[in-house]
Amino acid sequence: MSRITETSDQWWKTAVIYCLDIETFFDSDGDGVGDVAGVVERIDYLAELGVTCLWLMPFYPTPDRDDGYDVTDFYGVDARLGTHGDVVELIRTAKDRGMRVIADLLINHTSDQHPWFKAARRSTDNPFRNHYVWRADTPPDTSDMAVFPDQEEGIWTFDEKTEEWYLHHFYSHQPDLNVANPKVRDEIMKTIGFWLEVGVDGFRVDAVPFFLEDVGMTGEDADAMAEPHEHLRNIRAFLSRRRGDAVLLGEVNVPHEEQVKYFGDGHQLHMMFDFITMQKMYLALARGDARPLAEALLARPEIPEDCQWATFVRNHDELTLDKLTEEERAEVFAAFGPEERMQIYGRGLKRRVPPMVDGDPRRVRLVYSLLFALPGTPSLFYGEEIGMGEDLEAEGRMAVRTPMQWSPEKNGGFSTAPPSRLFARPVPGGYGPEFVNASDQMRDPDSLWNFVRRLIQIYRSHPELGRGSLTVLEQPHPEVLAHQVSWEGRVVVAVHNLGGEARTVSLRPDVPTGSVLESLLVQEEYEVGDGALELTLDGYGYRWFHVHHPGRRRLP
Ligand code: GLC
Repeated sequence: MSRITETSDQWWKTAVIYCLDIETFFDSDGDGVGDVAGVVERIDYLAELGVTCLWLMPFYPTPDRDDGYDVTDFYGVDARLGTHGDVVELIRTAKDRGMRVIADLLINHTSDQHPWFKAARRSTDNPFRNHYVWRADTPPDTSDMAVFPDQEEGIWTFDEKTEEWYLHHFYSHQPDLNVANPKVRDEIMKTIGFWLEVGVDGFRVDAVPFFLEDVGMTGEDADAMAEPHEHLRNIRAFLSRRRGDAVLLGEVNVPHEEQVKYFGDGHQLHMMFDFITMQKMYLALARGDARPLAEALLARPEIPEDCQWATFVRNHDELTLDKLTEEERAEVFAAFGPEERMQIYGRGLKRRVPPMVDGDPRRVRLVYSLLFALPGTPSLFYGEEIGMGEDLEAEGRMAVRTPMQWSPEKNGGFSTAPPSRLFARPVPGGYGPEFVNASDQMRDPDSLWNFVRRLIQIYRSHPELGRGSLTVLEQPHPEVLAHQVSWEGRVVVAVHNLGGEARTVSLRPDVPTGSVLESLLVQEEYEVGDGALELTLDGYGYRWFHVHHPGRRRLP
């Protein structure tokens, strides 16, 4: 088997993921809320950009107190967004355009409006009581464990009716499921099985470490959680039996060495977001010093063959900086979000990349150049490809969940509804649809959209970027990251200058003498001789090369 065929076999290792919220993407029926049919109408936009895997944020029935992450029916579709029929049509159309679809899987908690929880809180002997985690004695102070410290005082809330406390790592309206209960485990498997039958290609698994933690479980439940990763292995085994090439992409924001446990020996999660590298990248950008980023990349542990890091620079949540030290976080805040209204939960930013770098196009492009050049599977959050900004007046994380900006028209072309009926207003001011929108940028060859599209093309035609091994190349400037990714004789060399001053870099890529480095973004090439290569980068400049071996008949 040619090794290149492995790129279709392990498709997730060279995918380009695009996360969108159906609610904010495109409103096809003019009611002010995006819908599934709207995503279908925009599927060619995503195909043209080069997306290969669509990640749909939760579209299940919900009271919407956590933007859909609070679910009342795991098998349903939120009626505001569409029907099961619409979801099937979306998946089918995406597949026709060469895109896979993954869905958010929420198996840590439900909404408190879920029928199970409503039943569970009726009495302590209700058959659904044990679907959740309860304690009868007064809990200790858990204020340092609340994920949303601005809203919650701890992770236990007293239920007046039955006079016990229930567990919730997130909001108190999101009770944690008791995953030690075999009935809950069965239901989780059925949910996975159900959506696989509908046609999804896998799941982004929400809040993984939280549901593997045995907090406050007693008796048989505690025994069932004695080997918590067994639960994840069972989920993976079930998924892979039902659909061999379906994937689990986990949200696991823990240090690298702990992440290894969630890959296990290759029988747990296929992929995890690399939260550590993301945070260190912002530290490096804030300092104009590439070393923290290089250190994070080099400290990535070895992972099993089927596993992969998903890289990202923005997601739908706060841009978390929780794994930096307090001093490091203060540096990033000072550089990219100095005002309190830009910060959230004391650990993150409510901002998108372009406003963080004062709209400097060189720096915006530097960030996306890094995203696609660093080894891993890149994941974009909708609107990044056109450089959308945030609405700092929106509540909490909703600042970055504003309507997609399609055109300079009313409501940014997102909806024909009167502006007062939109579920959220488009970003106001200089990053608004008048100045930042997809249709203008698609027509402008020099736009960010066309730049990101080009990066995606290069990424897709260089599978070494997803599959290869990393070498950080020695060179004299701390501002510069020079790295090489190699796989099966294929090599990409990329050089990024995180500082604002031009730098001349002398490099010795690890390739045979006589190889030719061909530039991938501009016209230039270098022959690798005995001495070092010298290249000059502008401030915030970047260069990408692939290695051309004479006689190997590689296409550009
Ligand atoms: C995850 C989601 C976040 C949500 C939370 C609770 O962290 O990314 O958006 O609020 O889980 O479901």
